[in-house]
Amino acid sequence: MDPAMDSATVTPLLTEEQIRLGLERLARELTREYQNDEPCLVACLRGSLVFAADLIRRMPIPLRIDFLHASSYGAGTVSSGTVELRLLPEPDEVRARRVILLDDILDSGRTLHAARLKLESVGAREIRTCVFLEKRIEREFEKKADYRCFEIGDEFVVGYGLDYAGRYRNLPYLGILKQDAR
Ligand code: IMP
Ligand code: MG
Repeated sequence: MDPAMDSATVTPLLTEEQIRLGLERLARELTREYQNDEPCLVACLRGSLVFAADLIRRMPIPLRIDFLHASSYGAGTVSSGTVELRLLPEPDEVRARRVILLDDILDSGRTLHAARLKLESVGAREIRTCVFLEKRIEREFEKKADYRCFEIGDEFVVGYGLDYAGRYRNLPYLGILKQDAR
């Protein structure tokens, strides 16, 4: 993407190089933990698409991948409070396995909580959460992710899979969306 196209609306927060280093550290940790288990990574669409694709290619162990489509935000920057689960993982991929539940960001925790309940109901052996970003805020559900790439403040960020009203997911770095762009 031409940097001039987003420099007016996005303030850079994490560069591509910083993201790469964070991913490598996280992938090493997961590889060590799951090397003998053939885990199933369940990626929450659409936001964790980029994160999941980059992470699995750094995990040289047997693993499986499936998806879940969760949405809560509509077109704004504040969660609507209800989580809609649409596409669900194949029960056979999840049942009796160690599951790594991936999402782009842990904000209110409602999305991961709803996804966790669904995976439990299908019979996952263990569920751990893994997010690209964790917002440093108090939350009622899913207080902490089991694994995270980065912690950030309470800002609305875009890029690296994260969107605002459907845009910016293809930005290769992470940035804060400026107030007047909302
Ligand atoms: P939660 O259910 O409130 O934890 O929100 C999780 C979902 O909201 C994520 O999967 C994102 O799609 C979206 N979200 C939360 N914070 C942000 C943000 O700062 N930028 C873009 N999307 C966000
Ligand atoms: Mg989103």
